[in-house]
Amino acid sequence: MISFPDDFLWGAATASYQIEGAVDEDGRVPSIWDTFSHTPGKVAGGQTGDVACDHYHRYADDVELMAWLGLRAYRFSVAWPRLADLSFYDRLVDALLAKGITPVATLYHWDLPQSLQDEGGWTNRDTAYRFADYATAVHERLGDRVATWTTLNEPWVSAFVGHGSGRHAPGVTDPAAAFTAAHHLMLAHGLGVQALRAAGAQSVSLTLNLSPALGEPGPAQLIDGLANRLFLDPVLRGEYPPDVLEHISRFTDVKLDDLPTIAQPIDVLGVNYYSVNRVLADPGSPGNPEFPGSEGIAWATPHGELTEMGWEVNPSGLEDLLLRLTRDYPGVPLMITENGVAYPDAVADPDRIAFLDAHFRAARAAMDKGADLRGYFVWSLMDNFEWARGYDMRFGVIRVDYETLERTPRDSARWYRDVIARGGLEG
Ligand code: FCB
Repeated sequence: MISFPDDFLWGAATASYQIEGAVDEDGRVPSIWDTFSHTPGKVAGGQTGDVACDHYHRYADDVELMAWLGLRAYRFSVAWPRLADLSFYDRLVDALLAKGITPVATLYHWDLPQSLQDEGGWTNRDTAYRFADYATAVHERLGDRVATWTTLNEPWVSAFVGHGSGRHAPGVTDPAAAFTAAHHLMLAHGLGVQALRAAGAQSVSLTLNLSPALGEPGPAQLIDGLANRLFLDPVLRGEYPPDVLEHISRFTDVKLDDLPTIAQPIDVLGVNYYSVNRVLADPGSPGNPEFPGSEGIAWATPHGELTEMGWEVNPSGLEDLLLRLTRDYPGVPLMITENGVAYPDAVADPDRIAFLDAHFRAARAAMDKGADLRGYFVWSLMDNFEWARGYDMRFGVIRVDYETLERTPRDSARWYRDVIARGGLEG
């Protein structure tokens, strides 16, 4: 038996816009994802989050499923556009606590109010201060029952997919805007941590999507800098890495005075891990607008098996990543806040079981070598609106029938339930 600590936080994760639906209810205002998904050509099949999994109305049944799974914790996000009426989250949190499931609340999982976007969104420094006010307001409402808070989910994606390639809302394609947004997102995180601490939050974290960069040293260092160190170093060391700062200065200036605010101590670092970046030098390559300034770098053919998203399955990348964080940023406990996989729709999903099994083993191996890993949240509890890829990418351990909205646990859900119940994996 490959066992995990008794208090290991086995969980599952979702995000507001991906599951809730009910976009016009109880005073919710439009978000950048409403605008984006309703813009023709932006999302596969013209799909939107208008209904999604209808979790807003079905949350009680969904919490029953979480209890059936035996989840210790549930990571959800609060929709900033619902700030006028947060009572849905009151009900959700109460339902979770009634089942003994620890709520882990993320304040920003990409659904910025459109009204803030109209004032520049994350390219406007003021948005960071508005985020801190929002954090205070949500804590005021839920802080008596929610102890664990995450400021932002994956600021890299908000900044570079939202403003570099424009594949995500708000759909901007401007490298300077992308770096400015990245800086303001980190400032929002720091101000948010201060606000949450002032309000008495027990545990505060940030979730980053981190991907090891593999391949030729020069290209790998640049891509590692832009994907990983651009966020890790300001947040955990209070500095931009010199090579990254020099690269950014080709496009824009960032306000270095903000670094002490950005580097507020955090209680845990959330890690979202899906795959690796394999890169090589290729003088003719136009680069990738999600890594501004990557001209002359190409992405190599992924190795081995690919997921529906086209991502390489690479569990050893997770072990390497956890050990690297342990070595380079010591003293910060780690939590895997997302890991999971999209495969073609089926209830019998041995491929997903194999994927999760291999990644759980990689995490355990890293723990054996010293990584202070406190928990693991599978992405996702159920199939949902996978952003620009729409509903065809199915990440759930629970299947959702989008015609009837019926939920059906996949084999991987039963398997995960057994893992949690026995506290580990069979030999
Ligand atoms: C992550 C997001 C999450 C989901 C997974 C597949 O980047 O945080 O919302 O889309 O990817």
